[in-house]
Amino acid sequence: MRAIVYHEYGSPEVLELQEVQRPTPTEDELLIKVHAVSVNRSDWEGLVGKPFYARIGGLRRPSSRVLGSDIAGRVEMAGKNNTQFRPGDEVFGEMGDYHGGFAEYLCTRGRAWALKPASMTFEQAAAIPQAGVIALQGIRTKGRVQPGQKVLINGAGGGAGSFAVQLAKLDGAEVTGVDNAEKLEFVRSLGAEHVIDYTKEDFTKNGKQYDLILDVIAHRSVFDYSRALGPGGSCLVVGGSVATLFQFLLLGPWIRKTAGKTLKILMVQQNREDLVSITRLCEAGKIIPVIDRQYPLSEVPEALRYLGEGHAKGKVVITVE
Ligand SMILES: NC(=O)c1ccc[n+]([C@@H]2O[C@H](COP(=O)([O-])OP(=O)(O)OC[C@H]3O[C@@H](n4cnc5c(N)ncnc54)[C@H](OP(=O)(O)O)[C@@H]3O)[C@@H](O)[C@H]2O)c1
Repeated sequence: MRAIVYHEYGSPEVLELQEVQRPTPTEDELLIKVHAVSVNRSDWEGLVGKPFYARIGGLRRPSSRVLGSDIAGRVEMAGKNNTQFRPGDEVFGEMGDYHGGFAEYLCTRGRAWALKPASMTFEQAAAIPQAGVIALQGIRTKGRVQPGQKVLINGAGGGAGSFAVQLAKLDGAEVTGVDNAEKLEFVRSLGAEHVIDYTKEDFTKNGKQYDLILDVIAHRSVFDYSRALGPGGSCLVVGGSVATLFQFLLLGPWIRKTAGKTLKILMVQQNREDLVSITRLCEAGKIIPVIDRQYPLSEVPEALRYLGEGHAKGKVVITVE
């Protein structure tokens, strides 16, 4: 089968389209024929090997040769212990280890996967899993947004951010979206009342405060975030610099005790219930999985470059012929 393979961390040039062995499912796995796979920042991080957490499992060289984690495809074969889906089923979901998707076939247990709604294309379904579930857990399950609350989303114009802005609006929040100038009109079109260009203004230094900050690309100190939170407010960080994540781990509990504000890392739990829940909102037209661009499998390097260089508005999706 064809797959996009890499052997070292680096720029998109290290990626190559190659013929590789088709994987064979164990008795617990499904063999999936991939129809579409979306591109996430986690793929970019896995490509360049930064932040440092992207090297977990492969300090000097990538542990897995194929990136790609958000898949929509058809079950080709099911191991005898895997009874949740049958051959022919159209399914979608996220790879547990964020690898394997930029290929024509892959194997997965599919524990957190679901049947693809018939009304959705493979591309639309592939756009949902990682970004949609981050938004659902960040805004609803862990963020517990209430109508009228002030919510700020940092990285609002990207994959997870574009779902989070729409969901926070749906739940009645007043939303501020932060991203680069090129994406601010897009962020407004998703429903944000206020937008901030991060290259011009630091949202932690303008005197405004929020009930919830959801940051998908955090790099500030915990004290900056604490200052930008109103009384009893919460800040959830999803990804970003290792220094910031460490500060959240070490100082978050202390700030909670002394200032009554919650600063936590959102450890996203992949699960079918949340995937189905966010997908139902998409099916109902309440949330739109915005696809900025589509590329064929052979152009994964261009797709990753487009995202990595900061142009992607919403999601970028690969169609696998
Ligand atoms: N915690 C967990 O369990 C978990 C699970 C899965 C994924 N993750 C992480 O979640 C994150 C998801 O990101 P995503 O896929 O939504 O990324 P994305 O699509 O690349 O979106 C990130 C957005 O942030 C913008 N941005 C960059 N620097 C910024 C800054 N300093 N201030 C404000 N915005 C900035 C980017 O714009 P430009 O770069 O274009 O300017 C982009 O629009 C990744 O870091 C991933 O590793 C975490």
